[in-house]
Amino acid sequence: MPLDLETRQQLVDSVSRFVRERLVPLEEKVAEEDEVPLDIVNEMRELGLFGISIPTDYGGLGLTMEEEVLVVMELCQTSPAFRSVIGTNVGIGSQGIVMFGSQEQKEEWLPKLASGEAIASFALTEPGAGSDAASVKTTAIKDGDHYVVNGTKRYITNANKASVFTLMARSNPDIKGAKGITAFAVPADLPGITIGKPEKKMGQQGAHICDVIFEDCRVPESCVIGKEGEGFKVAMQVLDRGRLHVSAVCTGVAKRLVREMTQYAVEREQFGQRIGDFQLVQALMADSQTETYAGEAMVLDAARKLDNGEEVSMLASCCKLFCSEMVGRVADRAVQVFGGAGYVADYGIERFYRDVRIFRLYEGTSQIQQLVIARNLLKNV
Ligand code: CAA
Repeated sequence: MPLDLETRQQLVDSVSRFVRERLVPLEEKVAEEDEVPLDIVNEMRELGLFGISIPTDYGGLGLTMEEEVLVVMELCQTSPAFRSVIGTNVGIGSQGIVMFGSQEQKEEWLPKLASGEAIASFALTEPGAGSDAASVKTTAIKDGDHYVVNGTKRYITNANKASVFTLMARSNPDIKGAKGITAFAVPADLPGITIGKPEKKMGQQGAHICDVIFEDCRVPESCVIGKEGEGFKVAMQVLDRGRLHVSAVCTGVAKRLVREMTQYAVEREQFGQRIGDFQLVQALMADSQTETYAGEAMVLDAARKLDNGEEVSMLASCCKLFCSEMVGRVADRAVQVFGGAGYVADYGIERFYRDVRIFRLYEGTSQIQQLVIARNLLKNV
């Protein structure tokens, strides 16, 4: 059930206030310490942010996709590392269980994920399986009423904090492609799971990605999400939704950058006047605002269509392609408007420039989005 408009606005306003008053002042500290402070995580819990996409029956806010992207566009008007804290519980970590999980799995995990007591991670990518997700080599071989899992997952967001992994593993090694893959909700404390050290990254310090190594890890068959052999479709449908979510993330960051460049353009003077009065600077601002608005409009349209039960796989890829590339261009223009200051750490713009680079890579590169869009067009001829 959608929220009434007044409640929806109150929610968006409270997130906006939280971002302004609590998160923005901590951006530099989080980047330096590579950690989001626990009191902020707890405040996110109190605001219900871990459970925005989890149904109310399981303690979440049960937002529609439209409401979710509105909240995310507010939440991301700060360092995107903050969003990453809740990102996997809201998106790719939990949605396999929400959409395809058994009643038992939902009851076990969703209340804890909604409250933020547990963290969910999405374990698809491997050293040899990135864009080619159907080539996963991690095996899950049936042994009585368990599956024995062996393999390495790579760049897994929030793996070091995870209580449960949505794992994609090959349950039938005789089938090479998508059909041999099964999805599992694997408790992270099972014997045989080792978490690697967080990777050193170009940006988004405070958000962690690690290897997850499975060695003869015995996973009960009750952990299978959906049906055996249908794990690839689970992953793809989780990613359809995830790509919309990431598009909202990109749009939120772009909004912040447009505000930053506009503010700087009225404060900074050159040639005896504020730089915002120069038409060439205005062009940078105007192009950024136009593209941000286009991103917002696309994301809202696709989210409403998803809420109406329409198939949005192609539209989610259109949004992800446009918004992730768009925020890269906006961040680049922000550096340009700030000039030398845009290159210097104190102003924080170079941090955003680095932070947004990942959006063109994770949850499917721009090239994978192009492939999905073109395949959908061709399919419908
Ligand atoms: N919904 C439902 N089913 C889908 C689907 C979707 N969106 N996409 C594909 N399928 C189905 C197909 O219909 C097909 O089923 P049938 O055989 O029954 O017809 C099956 O899945 C295989 O599909 P494809 O033949 O299209 O598979 P493919 O091997 O050609 O790959 C791909 C398709 C789009 C390239 C896919 O591999 C892909 O999305 N790659 C990118 C992976 C990705 O996004 N990884 C990100 C990991 S998560 C992350 O980054 C976050 C983090 O934590 C860091």
